[in-house]
Parts: sequence; structure tokens; C-alpha cells
Amino acid sequence: MTAQVELVGVEKWFGEAQVIKGVDLAVQPGEFCVFVGPSGCGKSTLLRMIAGLEETSRGQILVEGRDATAEPPSRRGLAMVFQSYALYPHLSVRENVGFPLRAAGLPKEEIARRVDEAARALRLEELLDRRPKDLSGGQRQRVAIGRSIVREPVAFLFDEPLSNLDAALRVEMRYEIAKLHRQLGTAMIYVTHDQIEAMTLADRIVVLEAGRIAQVGTPRELYANPRSLFVAQFIGSPKMNVLPAGAAPDLPAPAGATTLGVRPEHLRLVARGDGPLAGEVDLVEYLGADTFVIVDCGAAGRITARVPGEVDLAPGAAVSLDAPRSALHAFDAAGLAVSGPG
Ligand SMILES: Nc1ncnc2c1ncn2[C@@H]1O[C@H](COP(=O)(O)OP(=O)(O)OP(=O)(O)O)[C@@H](O)[C@H]1O
Ligand SMILES: [Mg+2]
Repeated sequence: MTAQVELVGVEKWFGEAQVIKGVDLAVQPGEFCVFVGPSGCGKSTLLRMIAGLEETSRGQILVEGRDATAEPPSRRGLAMVFQSYALYPHLSVRENVGFPLRAAGLPKEEIARRVDEAARALRLEELLDRRPKDLSGGQRQRVAIGRSIVREPVAFLFDEPLSNLDAALRVEMRYEIAKLHRQLGTAMIYVTHDQIEAMTLADRIVVLEAGRIAQVGTPRELYANPRSLFVAQFIGSPKMNVLPAGAAPDLPAPAGATTLGVRPEHLRLVARGDGPLAGEVDLVEYLGADTFVIVDCGAAGRITARVPGEVDLAPGAAVSLDAPRSALHAFDAAGLAVSGPG
């Protein structure tokens, strides 16, 4: 199967500074691929290189098997949706959505057909005669997506498309984007800071670390088998607890492990002495559905446990923490995962 978009040894230099340090990735037809990583790791730069908005310093970018590295954005057949909607204020929704088709000189009837189809997919039918200023943020974002749909691209590129929206709208739009992807079956490459968007939307998540791919995998793979401490602590919220392997002699550590990791949701609060990690409750954060209990475990550090519902504990309480052996992660001095605890 020819990849929809393929990156081969891609590098980017801004003057002396290398920002993308050799990225290889094949995005399959219909795949939803999400880029995550800390601020400044190169997510937007990589996406802009795929779009053709940023020159590729070294390596190749293939679109449907064709070398597109030197092609201008308009020739690549990709559609980019930005965080800022960039709609034309003096044009109606209908004219905004149809704009790229008019610019390309398509016949009127074809434009009308595609605009109607996009409006149906995005539930914009009632809004077609309005101006952007008379729309909510979420509706504007839908118009911006509509404008990219009508081009019938081979893949969509999204750079944090929902980050300007409030929390409730983000949830709604996330749902819309998932539905849209299912409906269109078009490959999507999606940059986000949002853990939940990454976990729920992605077929595969690409974790970037300082211009390199730290790991690529399904959300389940990255959550269950992070290859490094970096990925382990990047995926999951609240993040994975880590402690020096020697700090808790009762926790089994495989040979070569210097650091142990355990996710907050895998820890159980037990009576003092009934678990391998003893400590004193430092803080209790009640969230409704669950509670985060932060426990000061001395040499093992501050450990967060996520427990369902409420807990009847106050700061200062003496507790122990327990976790099933299978939930323990182990890492060597270089921060790489060491397999097989115990
Ligand atoms: N035109 C430019 N000239 C020089 N350096 C740049 C340029 N554009 C981006 N950079 C640098 O490249 C690095 C990657 O930037 P990029 O915007 O890709 O990060 P990002 O992962 O999208 O971050 P964020 O999550 O904050 O959006 C940063 O260190 C940034 O300062
Ligand atoms: Mg960015």
C-alpha cells in the first residue's frame, strides 16, 4: 500500500539551528496520525514542511508515492487547517467555503455541489448565508474545515485547530472531527497539546522530542509500553510517577534499572505497612469522579495516586501505596525502558 504521506530522513535547519533532526514516517491511507511533544519540539515546523509552507533542508516528502519535496503547497493536494481560522469577513459562509474552488476556476454547479456536501458533513446548512462575525468560535472553525474539505484533499493537516476554543466546545469539536474522519476516510495529520485529543482521535501517536521521533505507536502501545522515560511521562495525565529504583527495596526492579515508574491510576492506598511505599499524605485533590492523593514518600519522592471517588484522608495521614507488579515500568540510566520487572 502506498503511504498517503511519507517522510524520508527529513531535516530542517533554520540557519545554524537544526530543528528537525531526521524524521522517517509513513502515514497510511485513512490513518489518523497525531503529533505530540513539548513546546518547541518541532511539531508545527514538521507539519508546515509537509504542507510545503516551509522548505525541507534535507530528505524527502512523498505524497501518494510522488516526490513532492520541491512542489509548492498548491500542488501537493493537501489541506491545512490552522488554529486561527483566517476567514474572509466580507464573504458569507457559503462564499468562504467555496473560495478555494472559485480560485481554482471550477464550474458553478460543481462548486455548489461540493459546498452543499461539506455543509452537510459539518452541519453548516443553516449558517450558509451568515458572515463570520455572526458565528461562534466553534462554527467558525467548522467553516475553516469546510473550506479545506471542498478541495477533496489527499490528506488533512491540522495544527492545534481547537486550541482557541473553550473547554466545552473543544469536546464538541473533537467529536465532530472524529465523525468527519470516519465519514471521509481521508488521512489526517493532527498536531495537539491535548492528551485527550491525542488519545481519543489517533490511530497512531507520534511523540516528538527535540526534533526527533521518540516513539510512534497506537495510544494503547504508548500508554502500556513507553520506550523511554520521556514518552512514559509525556503520555498520561497526571503523569507517571518515577522514583529511584533503590528508594523502595520492596518494589521489584529488573537488572540494570535505575528508575521505576508507576502510573497514578495503578496505585492503591492501603494501611501503613501493607504496601511497599510508605509515606505521609501531602495533599488531597478531590475532582468529583476521582481524587488525586499526593503522598510524600521520603527518599522515593512525592507520589501521586489516583483513586476512584472520594477518600477519607487528610494531609499528614500515614499511608502506604501498593501497585500490581504488572503495572511497574523500569528504566535504565539512559532513560530507556528495561523490560520484565522482578
Ligand atoms: N522561522 C524560524 N526561524 C528560526 N527558528 C524557528 C523558526 N520557526 C520555528 N523555529 C524554531 O524551531 C523550533 C520548533 O518550533 P515549532 O514551532 O515547530 O515548535 P512546536 O513543537 O510547534 O511548538 P508549540 O507546541 O509551542 O507550537 C523552535 O525552537 C522554534 O523557535
Ligand atoms: Mg506549534
